[in-house]
Amino acid sequence: MIDIHCHILPGVDDGAADIKESLNMARKAVEAGVTHIFATPHHLNEKYVNVKSDIIDHAEMLNESLQQNNIPLTIHLGQEVRIHRDIFTSLEKEEILTLDDNDTYLLLELPSGRVPTYTQEVIYELLLKGITPIIVHPERNKELIENHKLLFELVQEGALTQLTSGSIIGLFGKNIKSFSKKIIENNLAHFIATDAHNIGSRGFTLQLAYESIAKAYGIERTFYFKENAEQLSKGQSPMVEKPIPFKKKILGIF
Ligand SMILES: [Fe+2]
Repeated sequence: MIDIHCHILPGVDDGAADIKESLNMARKAVEAGVTHIFATPHHLNEKYVNVKSDIIDHAEMLNESLQQNNIPLTIHLGQEVRIHRDIFTSLEKEEILTLDDNDTYLLLELPSGRVPTYTQEVIYELLLKGITPIIVHPERNKELIENHKLLFELVQEGALTQLTSGSIIGLFGKNIKSFSKKIIENNLAHFIATDAHNIGSRGFTLQLAYESIAKAYGIERTFYFKENAEQLSKGQSPMVEKPIPFKKKILGIF
């Protein structure tokens, strides 16, 4: 399996603290059936700045350590970019790292509590530049939980989304689990990833999430997500299903 969102690089953010922890995460990932990981450190999230060149150096070092330790895992380059007014300045300075060599797909993080007013504008400008933002864990965003329609609008505009495996299996609570299901049912999810930060509470639950999806929606649904991750790793376009608007809540007497 391919994991497109993971904080496995040593000492760069709130993921693996050092190389020992990175290797431990790698071993757990392999045990859990993961063969490829996109290392996606936080960038511009008010706490961490991880520019492209630093990520390339760290990823190269980690790939070498994995080989030396005979751990059959390949690290791909990536970055989790917080939506920010400076995102375009950072792009111009070549600090931004997409998930593919064609500069097409970018992991975009919203603040957890809200959707900034300039979100649609940033998505529009990115798309104009040929970059498709993949909004990470929309199911954990407080404003989107309260306003499902807004998520539909962002996907309708051209953004893709990535759900976190832990959300699907209920690790973040009932509300987030149920919103994750609704996102899948409305064709608003395109990828599943671990967003793993460690080997404990934020670990590699990708297989468990796929099992849960297969149980609820059939195995074909897992193929869709798995294939999309594979397409990304090959630098090809993922499949995008037509988004379905959320049904309005009908209040009244039945
Ligand atoms: Fe993350």
